[in-house]
Amino acid sequence: MNEIIKHIDEAAEYLKSRIPCIPQTAIILGSGLGKLADAIDDATIIPYGEIPHFKVSTAIGHKGNLIFGRLNGKSVMAMQGRFHYYEGYTMQEVTFPVRVMSRIGVERLLVSNAAGGINPDFGVGDLMIITDHISFMPNPLIGKNIDEMGVRFPDMTNVYSTALRNKAKETAAKMGLTLREGVYVAETGPSYETRAEYRMFRLLGGDAVGMSTVPEVTVARHCGMEIFGMSVISNCAKDLGENCQNDGDDVVKAADKAADKMTEIFKSLV
Ligand code: HPA
Repeated sequence: MNEIIKHIDEAAEYLKSRIPCIPQTAIILGSGLGKLADAIDDATIIPYGEIPHFKVSTAIGHKGNLIFGRLNGKSVMAMQGRFHYYEGYTMQEVTFPVRVMSRIGVERLLVSNAAGGINPDFGVGDLMIITDHISFMPNPLIGKNIDEMGVRFPDMTNVYSTALRNKAKETAAKMGLTLREGVYVAETGPSYETRAEYRMFRLLGGDAVGMSTVPEVTVARHCGMEIFGMSVISNCAKDLGENCQNDGDDVVKAADKAADKMTEIFKSLV
């Protein structure tokens, strides 16, 4: 058996031994968005350090726990803190938890992140449904294909579920909340963009830019999961100038403020 699948299975078996039932939905909580975890009832909290072959998360605004429990009455699991490529992990390490989720039987992935707004209509605190993405990151599927999990050349034309996007829009309408929709551009970070780079990403068709999400989504797609993604716009390219610069702490604060609205949307999707 190949080494990666052996590690995935060891982590999956360990988790199965610790949880009362298999969640259908997994949620990845981005920078500053970890407090959705507080809405999970009957939580079993498993620190990453206790799970075989899991890494620990070092990024600001990211704890390092898997949380199993019920959200809106449904069995879910949440990653409170994700692994970023810019932390120095390999793409295999960044996406390892998604493979484990799939192996324990999770069928749906909801992903969140904090992102820089490059659509000039967007403002800080807006929530954007991800309709599609453009990646400037290495592809996590490079290397020997894990045939047990998916095909060598997965389709990427309809990655973000139309049904889940429509459901999110319905929920937002009931809440009286305006949702944005758009294309997420992924780059490695950890430096933020220059002003010229923000302009370039806009020209290429992007609406928001961030340093995560696409690796996990690519692997989730490879495993055949249903996928939904949402960005909290935590800073805007149009606001940057002599007196306003990007700052990681401001990004986390802006995401934290929007976390309650995002929690309501995610609750309706599980
Ligand atoms: N660029 C890249 N990643 C980000 C940004 C940004 O402006 N804001 C939050 N994550």
